[in-house]
Amino acid sequence: MESGAGLEEATRWVEELSSRAAGAASGAELAKLREAVGDRGSPLSALYRSMKVMDPALRPEFGRRLQELRLRLDQALEAASAAISAREREATFGAERDDLGAYLCRSRYEGVGSLHLITMTRMELEDIFISLGYAVAEGPEVESEWNNFEALNIPKFHPARASQDSFFLDFGEEESTLLRTHTSPIEIRLMQAQKPPIYAVAPGRVYRRDTPDARHTPAFHQIEALVVDRGISFSNLKATIESFTSAYFGPSIKARLRPAYFPFTEPSAEFEITCTICSGTGCRTCSGTGWIELGGAGMVHPKVFEAVGIDHRVYSGFAFGFGIDRLAQMRAGLPDMRVLPENDLRILAQFRGRR
Ligand code: PHE
Repeated sequence: MESGAGLEEATRWVEELSSRAAGAASGAELAKLREAVGDRGSPLSALYRSMKVMDPALRPEFGRRLQELRLRLDQALEAASAAISAREREATFGAERDDLGAYLCRSRYEGVGSLHLITMTRMELEDIFISLGYAVAEGPEVESEWNNFEALNIPKFHPARASQDSFFLDFGEEESTLLRTHTSPIEIRLMQAQKPPIYAVAPGRVYRRDTPDARHTPAFHQIEALVVDRGISFSNLKATIESFTSAYFGPSIKARLRPAYFPFTEPSAEFEITCTICSGTGCRTCSGTGWIELGGAGMVHPKVFEAVGIDHRVYSGFAFGFGIDRLAQMRAGLPDMRVLPENDLRILAQFRGRR
Protein backbone atom coordinates (compact mmCIF):
# COMPACT_ATOMS: atom_id res chain seq x y z
CA MET A 1 0.00 0.00 0.00
CA GLU A 2 1.27 3.41 -0.93
CA SER A 3 0.63 4.94 2.46
CA GLY A 4 2.43 2.01 4.16
CA ALA A 5 5.49 2.54 2.00
CA GLY A 6 5.23 6.27 2.76
CA LEU A 7 5.18 5.54 6.52
CA GLU A 8 8.24 3.33 6.23
CA GLU A 9 10.08 6.01 4.33
CA ALA A 10 8.99 8.63 6.89
CA THR A 11 10.17 6.36 9.75
CA ARG A 12 13.61 6.02 8.18
CA TRP A 13 13.68 9.78 7.66
CA VAL A 14 12.77 10.41 11.31
CA GLU A 15 15.43 7.95 12.43
CA GLU A 16 18.06 9.49 10.24
CA LEU A 17 17.11 12.99 11.35
CA SER A 18 17.15 11.90 15.01
CA SER A 19 20.63 10.49 14.71
CA ARG A 20 21.84 13.59 12.87
CA ALA A 21 20.31 15.70 15.62
CA ALA A 22 22.07 13.63 18.27
CA GLY A 23 25.35 14.20 16.41
CA ALA A 24 24.79 17.95 15.87
CA ALA A 25 27.80 19.87 17.14
CA SER A 26 26.12 23.23 17.67
CA GLY A 27 22.85 25.04 18.16
CA ALA A 28 23.16 26.41 14.62
CA GLU A 29 23.45 22.92 13.11
CA LEU A 30 20.39 21.83 15.07
CA ALA A 31 18.43 24.88 13.90
CA LYS A 32 19.05 23.78 10.29
CA LEU A 33 17.62 20.33 11.07
CA ARG A 34 14.55 21.93 12.63
CA GLU A 35 14.00 23.88 9.45
CA ALA A 36 14.10 20.65 7.50
CA VAL A 37 11.34 19.22 9.73
CA GLY A 38 9.07 22.18 9.17
CA ASP A 39 9.81 22.16 5.46
CA ARG A 40 6.64 21.52 3.51
CA GLY A 41 8.57 19.11 1.27
CA SER A 42 9.52 16.81 4.20
CA PRO A 43 8.16 13.22 4.07
CA LEU A 44 6.03 13.83 7.17
CA SER A 45 4.36 16.90 5.73
CA ALA A 46 3.68 14.99 2.52
CA LEU A 47 2.01 12.18 4.51
CA TYR A 48 -0.10 14.64 6.50
CA ARG A 49 -1.25 16.16 3.24
CA SER A 50 -2.02 12.68 1.80
CA MET A 51 -4.55 12.05 4.63
CA LYS A 52 -6.98 14.42 2.97
CA VAL A 53 -7.55 12.00 0.12
CA MET A 54 -7.35 8.85 2.22
CA ASP A 55 -10.04 6.35 2.93
CA PRO A 56 -11.67 7.85 6.05
CA ALA A 57 -11.63 4.42 7.78
CA LEU A 58 -7.82 4.32 7.65
CA ARG A 59 -7.32 7.87 8.74
CA PRO A 60 -7.37 7.51 12.57
CA GLU A 61 -4.75 4.75 12.65
CA PHE A 62 -2.61 6.49 10.04
CA GLY A 63 -2.91 9.79 11.88
CA ARG A 64 -1.86 8.10 15.16
CA ARG A 65 1.27 6.59 13.52
CA LEU A 66 2.17 9.96 12.00
CA GLN A 67 1.68 11.63 15.37
CA GLU A 68 3.98 9.07 16.98
CA LEU A 69 6.66 9.78 14.40
CA ARG A 70 6.29 13.50 14.89
CA LEU A 71 6.62 13.04 18.63
CA ARG A 72 9.73 10.85 18.27
CA LEU A 73 11.29 13.49 16.08
CA ASP A 74 10.39 16.31 18.47
CA GLN A 75 11.80 14.38 21.39
CA ALA A 76 15.02 13.62 19.50
CA LEU A 77 15.41 17.31 18.61
CA GLU A 78 14.64 18.34 22.19
CA ALA A 79 17.16 15.90 23.63
CA ALA A 80 19.79 17.05 21.15
CA SER A 81 19.11 20.68 22.00
CA ALA A 82 19.40 20.00 25.75
CA ALA A 83 22.65 18.12 25.20
CA ILE A 84 24.08 20.98 23.13
CA SER A 85 23.18 23.66 25.71
CA ALA A 86 24.64 21.51 28.47
CA ARG A 87 27.88 21.16 26.50
CA GLU A 88 27.98 24.89 25.73
CA ARG A 89 27.33 25.80 29.35
CA GLU A 90 30.04 23.42 30.47
CA ALA A 91 32.45 25.06 28.04
CA THR A 92 31.68 28.62 29.22
CA PHE A 93 31.85 27.60 32.85
CA GLY A 94 35.15 25.90 32.20
CA ALA A 95 36.52 29.02 30.52
CA GLU A 96 35.24 31.29 33.26
CA ARG A 97 36.57 28.97 35.92
CA ASP A 98 39.98 29.21 34.30
CA ASP A 99 39.64 32.99 34.25
CA LEU A 100 38.78 33.14 37.92
CA GLY A 101 41.62 30.79 38.75
CA ALA A 102 44.02 32.96 36.80
CA TYR A 103 42.67 36.05 38.55
CA LEU A 104 43.10 34.51 41.98
CA CYS A 105 46.62 33.44 41.13
CA ARG A 106 47.51 36.90 39.93
CA SER A 107 45.97 38.58 42.92
CA ARG A 108 47.95 36.37 45.24
CA TYR A 109 51.09 38.05 43.96
CA GLU A 110 49.99 41.47 42.77
CA GLY A 111 46.80 42.45 44.51
CA VAL A 112 47.54 41.75 48.15
CA GLY A 113 47.27 44.80 50.37
CA SER A 114 49.76 45.92 52.95
CA LEU A 115 50.18 48.46 55.70
CA HIS A 116 50.78 52.05 54.63
CA LEU A 117 54.39 53.21 54.81
CA ILE A 118 53.44 55.67 57.56
CA THR A 119 51.79 52.93 59.61
CA MET A 120 54.84 50.71 59.19
CA THR A 121 57.11 53.58 60.24
CA ARG A 122 54.94 54.33 63.27
CA MET A 123 55.00 50.70 64.36
CA GLU A 124 58.75 50.50 63.91
CA LEU A 125 59.26 53.64 66.00
CA GLU A 126 56.98 52.25 68.69
CA ASP A 127 59.06 49.07 68.73
CA ILE A 128 62.29 51.05 69.09
CA PHE A 129 60.89 52.98 72.04
CA ILE A 130 59.33 49.94 73.65
CA SER A 131 62.79 48.36 73.53
CA LEU A 132 64.11 51.45 75.37
CA GLY A 133 61.53 50.87 78.11
CA TYR A 134 58.86 53.37 77.03
CA ALA A 135 55.09 52.93 77.15
CA VAL A 136 52.95 53.85 74.11
CA ALA A 137 50.18 56.40 74.70
CA GLU A 138 47.48 58.06 72.61
CA GLY A 139 45.41 61.21 72.60
CA PRO A 140 42.43 62.55 70.62
CA GLU A 141 42.84 64.44 67.34
CA VAL A 142 40.23 66.97 68.46
CA GLU A 143 41.86 68.76 71.39
CA SER A 144 41.01 71.52 73.75
CA GLU A 145 42.79 74.80 73.19
CA TRP A 146 44.05 74.52 76.75
CA ASN A 147 45.82 71.18 76.19
CA ASN A 148 47.12 72.16 72.76
CA PHE A 149 48.35 75.65 73.71
CA GLU A 150 47.73 77.16 77.16
CA ALA A 151 49.02 74.28 79.30
CA LEU A 152 52.08 74.18 77.06
CA ASN A 153 52.86 77.76 77.98
CA ILE A 154 51.52 79.16 74.70
CA PRO A 155 48.97 81.74 75.87
CA LYS A 156 46.42 83.35 73.55
CA PHE A 157 48.02 85.83 71.16
CA HIS A 158 51.46 84.37 71.81
CA PRO A 159 53.47 84.65 68.57
CA ALA A 160 54.39 80.94 68.83
CA ARG A 161 50.79 80.17 67.85
CA ALA A 162 51.44 81.67 64.45
CA SER A 163 53.94 78.91 63.61
CA GLN A 164 51.20 76.36 64.16
CA ASP A 165 48.37 77.88 62.18
CA SER A 166 45.38 75.90 63.36
CA PHE A 167 42.08 74.45 62.28
CA PHE A 168 39.72 75.64 65.03
CA LEU A 169 36.48 73.69 65.26
CA ASP A 170 34.66 75.63 67.91
CA PHE A 171 35.36 78.97 69.59
CA GLY A 172 33.72 78.51 72.96
CA GLU A 173 33.32 81.18 75.64
CA GLU A 174 35.30 79.11 78.10
CA GLU A 175 36.96 76.50 76.00
CA SER A 176 37.69 76.21 72.28
CA THR A 177 38.44 73.02 70.39
CA LEU A 178 40.72 72.50 67.44
CA LEU A 179 42.43 69.77 65.46
CA ARG A 180 45.62 69.30 67.45
CA THR A 181 48.57 71.01 65.81
CA HIS A 182 51.12 68.71 67.46
CA THR A 183 51.26 65.64 69.69
CA SER A 184 52.53 67.71 72.65
CA PRO A 185 49.01 67.94 74.24
CA ILE A 186 49.40 64.22 74.93
CA GLU A 187 52.24 65.21 77.30
CA ILE A 188 49.67 67.19 79.29
CA ARG A 189 47.24 64.27 79.31
CA LEU A 190 49.97 61.87 80.41
CA MET A 191 51.14 64.10 83.28
CA GLN A 192 47.57 64.64 84.43
CA ALA A 193 46.82 60.93 84.35
CA GLN A 194 49.85 59.60 86.20
CA LYS A 195 52.57 60.48 88.63
CA PRO A 196 56.24 60.37 87.61
CA PRO A 197 58.25 58.42 86.63
CA ILE A 198 56.86 58.72 83.11
CA TYR A 199 58.56 57.19 80.09
CA ALA A 200 56.15 57.34 77.19
CA VAL A 201 55.86 57.92 73.45
CA ALA A 202 52.67 59.04 71.77
CA PRO A 203 52.29 58.81 68.00
CA GLY A 204 49.38 60.45 66.20
CA ARG A 205 48.01 62.52 63.36
CA VAL A 206 48.24 66.29 63.62
CA TYR A 207 46.90 69.18 61.51
CA ARG A 208 48.20 72.57 60.48
CA ARG A 209 47.07 75.10 57.94
CA ASP A 210 50.29 74.55 55.98
CA THR A 211 50.47 74.92 52.24
CA PRO A 212 51.54 71.54 50.88
CA ASP A 213 55.09 71.39 49.51
CA ALA A 214 57.91 68.86 49.27
CA ARG A 215 58.23 68.69 53.09
CA HIS A 216 54.76 69.72 54.29
CA THR A 217 51.22 68.37 54.16
CA PRO A 218 48.34 69.89 56.17
CA ALA A 219 47.73 66.58 57.94
CA PHE A 220 50.79 64.69 59.06
CA HIS A 221 52.02 62.48 61.87
CA GLN A 222 54.24 63.05 64.84
CA ILE A 223 55.64 60.93 67.59
CA GLU A 224 56.00 62.63 70.94
CA ALA A 225 58.29 61.39 73.67
CA LEU A 226 58.01 62.41 77.30
CA VAL A 227 60.26 61.45 80.17
CA VAL A 228 59.67 62.77 83.67
CA ASP A 229 61.74 61.44 86.55
CA ARG A 230 64.20 62.56 89.19
CA GLY A 231 67.53 63.79 87.85
CA ILE A 232 66.74 63.83 84.13
CA SER A 233 69.18 66.04 82.22
CA PHE A 234 69.78 67.36 78.71
CA SER A 235 72.42 64.67 78.14
CA ASN A 236 69.72 62.02 78.67
CA LEU A 237 67.70 63.77 75.98
CA LYS A 238 70.61 63.88 73.55
CA ALA A 239 71.54 60.24 74.13
CA THR A 240 67.94 59.12 73.68
CA ILE A 241 67.53 61.01 70.40
CA GLU A 242 70.83 59.62 69.15
CA SER A 243 70.00 56.04 70.02
CA PHE A 244 66.61 56.22 68.34
CA THR A 245 67.92 57.87 65.15
CA SER A 246 70.73 55.37 64.79
CA ALA A 247 68.25 52.54 65.44
CA TYR A 248 66.02 53.92 62.69
CA PHE A 249 68.48 55.24 60.11
CA GLY A 250 71.56 53.16 60.91
CA PRO A 251 74.78 54.53 62.40
CA SER A 252 75.98 56.30 59.24
CA ILE A 253 73.47 59.14 59.30
CA LYS A 254 74.74 62.49 60.61
CA ALA A 255 72.52 64.28 63.11
CA ARG A 256 72.76 67.62 64.89
CA LEU A 257 70.93 69.57 67.56
CA ARG A 258 70.58 73.31 67.08
CA PRO A 259 69.41 75.80 69.68
CA ALA A 260 65.75 76.60 69.16
CA TYR A 261 62.78 78.04 70.94
CA PHE A 262 59.62 76.30 72.11
CA PRO A 263 57.51 77.85 74.87
CA PHE A 264 57.07 74.48 76.59
CA THR A 265 60.73 73.47 76.80
CA GLU A 266 63.81 75.22 78.16
CA PRO A 267 66.41 74.86 76.86
CA SER A 268 65.01 73.87 73.47
CA ALA A 269 66.61 72.36 70.42
CA GLU A 270 65.79 71.49 66.88
CA PHE A 271 66.94 68.15 65.62
CA GLU A 272 68.23 67.77 62.08
CA ILE A 273 69.76 65.02 59.98
CA THR A 274 71.67 65.05 56.71
CA CYS A 275 69.19 65.26 53.83
CA THR A 276 69.11 61.74 52.41
CA ILE A 277 67.83 62.92 49.04
CA CYS A 278 71.01 64.88 48.18
CA SER A 279 73.36 63.44 50.86
CA GLY A 280 73.85 66.93 52.22
CA THR A 281 74.80 68.79 49.06
CA GLY A 282 71.52 70.73 48.95
CA CYS A 283 68.40 70.04 46.89
CA ARG A 284 64.78 71.09 46.45
CA THR A 285 63.62 68.82 49.28
CA CYS A 286 65.90 70.44 51.90
CA SER A 287 65.61 73.92 50.31
CA GLY A 288 69.30 73.79 49.47
CA THR A 289 70.49 73.51 53.09
CA GLY A 290 71.64 69.87 53.08
CA TRP A 291 69.80 69.31 56.38
CA ILE A 292 66.28 68.16 57.19
CA GLU A 293 64.58 69.16 60.38
CA LEU A 294 62.99 66.13 62.02
CA GLY A 295 61.52 67.76 65.08
CA GLY A 296 61.85 69.74 68.25
CA ALA A 297 63.10 68.80 71.68
CA GLY A 298 63.94 70.22 75.05
CA MET A 299 63.69 70.04 78.81
CA VAL A 300 60.11 70.32 80.07
CA HIS A 301 59.45 73.94 81.05
CA PRO A 302 58.66 74.57 84.77
CA LYS A 303 55.47 76.37 83.71
CA VAL A 304 54.26 73.16 82.05
CA PHE A 305 54.95 71.19 85.23
CA GLU A 306 53.07 73.87 87.10
CA ALA A 307 50.05 73.57 84.80
CA VAL A 308 49.72 69.86 85.56
CA GLY A 309 50.72 70.02 89.23
CA ILE A 310 54.14 68.36 89.14
CA ASP A 311 56.79 69.81 91.46
CA HIS A 312 59.65 70.96 89.23
CA ARG A 313 62.01 71.14 92.21
CA VAL A 314 61.69 67.38 92.59
CA TYR A 315 61.26 66.24 89.00
CA SER A 316 62.76 67.17 85.71
CA GLY A 317 62.07 65.81 82.27
CA PHE A 318 62.57 66.05 78.56
CA ALA A 319 60.24 65.92 75.59
CA PHE A 320 60.59 65.73 71.87
CA GLY A 321 58.29 65.50 68.90
CA PHE A 322 59.29 64.22 65.47
CA GLY A 323 57.48 64.06 62.16
CA ILE A 324 56.81 60.41 61.32
CA ASP A 325 56.15 61.29 57.68
CA ARG A 326 59.53 63.06 57.51
CA LEU A 327 61.32 60.08 59.01
CA ALA A 328 59.64 57.75 56.51
CA GLN A 329 60.33 60.19 53.67
CA MET A 330 64.01 60.46 54.56
CA ARG A 331 64.67 56.78 54.98
CA ALA A 332 62.69 55.80 51.89
CA GLY A 333 64.37 58.61 49.91
CA LEU A 334 61.11 60.18 48.73
CA PRO A 335 61.87 63.63 47.28
CA ASP A 336 58.29 64.78 47.81
CA MET A 337 56.24 64.08 50.91
CA ARG A 338 52.93 64.67 49.13
CA VAL A 339 53.01 61.17 47.67
CA LEU A 340 52.32 59.73 51.13
CA PRO A 341 48.71 60.90 51.62
CA GLU A 342 48.02 60.44 47.91
CA ASN A 343 48.13 56.65 48.40
CA ASP A 344 49.49 55.97 44.94
CA LEU A 345 49.92 52.20 44.91
CA ARG A 346 52.82 52.41 42.48
CA ILE A 347 54.75 54.04 45.29
CA LEU A 348 53.26 52.35 48.35
CA ALA A 349 53.61 48.86 46.84
CA GLN A 350 57.39 49.32 46.82
CA PHE A 351 57.38 49.13 50.60
CA ARG A 352 55.10 46.10 50.81
CA GLY A 353 56.16 43.35 53.13
CA ARG A 354 58.61 45.45 55.11
CA ARG A 355 56.57 44.56 58.12
N1 PHE B 1 55.49 70.13 69.42
C1 PHE B 1 56.63 70.70 68.73
C2 PHE B 1 56.26 70.93 67.28
O1 PHE B 1 55.36 70.30 66.79
C3 PHE B 1 57.82 69.80 68.79
C4 PHE B 1 58.35 69.64 70.19
C5 PHE B 1 57.90 68.61 70.97
C6 PHE B 1 59.27 70.52 70.70
C7 PHE B 1 58.39 68.42 72.26
C8 PHE B 1 59.77 70.37 71.97
C9 PHE B 1 59.33 69.32 72.73
O2 PHE B 1 56.86 71.72 66.59
